[in-house]
Amino acid sequence: MLSAKDRDDILEHAGHYADPRAAGIESLKLVQDRYGWVSDDHLKEVAGILGMSPTELDSVATFYSLVYRKAVGKYVILLCDSVSCWIVGYRGIRKHLRERLGIDLGQTTADNMFTLLTVPCLGCCDRAPAFMVNEDLHTNLTPDRVDEILESYRKKGA
Ligand code: FES
Repeated sequence: MLSAKDRDDILEHAGHYADPRAAGIESLKLVQDRYGWVSDDHLKEVAGILGMSPTELDSVATFYSLVYRKAVGKYVILLCDSVSCWIVGYRGIRKHLRERLGIDLGQTTADNMFTLLTVPCLGCCDRAPAFMVNEDLHTNLTPDRVDEILESYRKKGA
């Protein structure tokens, strides 16, 4: 259940728009920042606050790939699968990540530490291949570099 502060903050976002429904993505991101992902119950509550149907808001959430509608791990790896990264080794990095994490794309490790997803171009094509881990951008990836990066997040802990 959303807190009173969550509701107030969503209403404040909505107040910045002529049509409160335009605040849909921002409101879902707020929920995600605070709870890690957007559950069905939270989505229904947000829809009610914004005067939308849950289905309408869910279609917005589904369109925007960075709103997570399933529980995710502490660290979400967003692997760029656009053209520059493909050319310089995306498939090898993807294979390495799958092996090291023991999961496929769209899955979360059993310890809830990592979720592996793909995203369109991260805007650093000159330093491809690249991925983001939560808010951190990592570029010029090699299998060794991936191992170092994963280890650094493991050390930070759950
Ligand atoms: S294609 Fe991967 S960063 Fe642009």
